[in-house]
Amino acid sequence: MTDLPLVMVLNGPNLNLLGSREPHIYGHATLDDIAAALEDQAQTLGIAIDVRQSNHEGHLVDWLHEAGSRRALAVLLNAGALTHTSIAIHDAMKSITVPVIEVHLSNPHAREEFRHTSFVARAALGSISGFGARSYALALDAAAALRQ
Ligand code: DQA
Repeated sequence: MTDLPLVMVLNGPNLNLLGSREPHIYGHATLDDIAAALEDQAQTLGIAIDVRQSNHEGHLVDWLHEAGSRRALAVLLNAGALTHTSIAIHDAMKSITVPVIEVHLSNPHAREEFRHTSFVARAALGSISGFGARSYALALDAAAALRQ
């Protein structure tokens, strides 16, 4: 157990394949690389992080509920393609009082039309996209700044 403020970092479908998945779009860092860098950054910031990934929508819904019951400081959410389709994730975000920061490695608005809708953005405090793995670092800094 820790008394440090908690930031949950939730990752959706196909993000387990980072590093080998379309590296020209998503870069060469694996999700483990990103998690390790976030751990270092979190230690410096005095924050506890909990990094998870699932290819299943319901897991993300359950984890958002968990963030609410654990009274997390914030959630960083890269919902992958579920960003563009999932009203269940949108509703789960609306069901908790924890602020959620939307994260994307790529800039979905500069890509295919079907990526221009984000149900996550509609319920998020803010969104950070287009900076590769650095999007996560920027989002963690933004989350840390929510401390009062
Ligand atoms: C993504 C962007 C989504 O459109 C895509 O479906 C992903 C990754 C990103 O991080 O850039 O899986 O969320």
